[in-house]
Amino acid sequence: MTDITALERDLSERIAASGDDAALEAVRVAALGKKGQVSELLKSLGGMSPDERKMQGPAINGLRDRVTTAIAEKKQALADADLQRRLETERVDVTLPAVPFPFDPGAGRIHPVSQVTDELIAIFADMGFGVAEGPDIERDDYNFTKLNIPPEHPARQMHDTFYLNGNAGDGARAVLRTHTSPVQIRTMLTQKPPIRIIVPGRTYRSDSDQTHTPMFHQVEGLVIDETTHMGHLKWTLEEFCKAFFEVPQVKMRFRASHFPFTEPSAEVDIQCDRSGDTVKFGEGNDWLEILGCGMVHPKVIANCGLDPEKYQGFAFGCGIDRLAMLKYGLPDLRAFFDSDLRWLKHYGFSVLEQPSLAMGLTR
Ligand code: DAH
Repeated sequence: MTDITALERDLSERIAASGDDAALEAVRVAALGKKGQVSELLKSLGGMSPDERKMQGPAINGLRDRVTTAIAEKKQALADADLQRRLETERVDVTLPAVPFPFDPGAGRIHPVSQVTDELIAIFADMGFGVAEGPDIERDDYNFTKLNIPPEHPARQMHDTFYLNGNAGDGARAVLRTHTSPVQIRTMLTQKPPIRIIVPGRTYRSDSDQTHTPMFHQVEGLVIDETTHMGHLKWTLEEFCKAFFEVPQVKMRFRASHFPFTEPSAEVDIQCDRSGDTVKFGEGNDWLEILGCGMVHPKVIANCGLDPEKYQGFAFGCGIDRLAMLKYGLPDLRAFFDSDLRWLKHYGFSVLEQPSLAMGLTR
């Protein structure tokens, strides 16, 4: 007759000594498996006399229950310890300072969109532009109506707008802004000219393929004063392109176009060479469209409570993601927003090198 007390003591010790799931499983099989010690005891009940069974039954069943519980508890304790160990070893301390050297392959990198945004800000700040911002959830009238895009205007369909439930203040319909242009309105409504701003930020359209994502980035430019004209616009964009693509000369082509909020309007192409693997700027026979621009429409100026007889100026709007793709040879826009750390490590930028005109935009 097996000594139940001795068997229980032995099993308890073996359970306690199990250092991992495999060891614990071995104890379980040895005790409760088909041929386990406890299972054999349970089987022996069948061959006992009724009196014997009355005594041994509760004892053996009790043993089985206690061993089962002990194993389950140990399993949970092992899982808890494992989680604790992982939490400790895999913890990321976001307050640690960045280590410049030696290069840490585990360190975070600056996303190309952030890098290009910083480059744009550095270039335009040098030309005296301030940075303005507006909300991603925008009023329908700022996104469209005040920009001379009335209800039913075909441009509204072209924008593939995400409309939101609820309103954005005094009954205005709320939309995810489809461009950064509504910040022109916000700025002219609250500031007196002279105005000289750029607006980098997120924009949204219901559109998705290799070159479109539902969320993307634009930078808007706006200059309003009493004398600014098309010549200033052209010079500004040329200086910007030379600085951005880091080439001594760029050829640009201003094609007449149409935007409801500018008159006249133009689309701008820059000269490039696409014969090799990468696009080269400042040479070649190809043209790439990079932005839309024009003189701010007098109606837009008047919609913001300014006198269009007195004030005039230019605006432009440009896709930041596209600029990043062109400058850094990134093939697929969708990868920008996959949050794949391997992509970021390959295409990202050092956290310690702020783009500046004096030190160079990229090193
Ligand atoms: N908002 C336009 C778009 O998203 C781009 C644009 C064109 C902005 C011309 C401007 C401009 O400020 O003058 O398609």
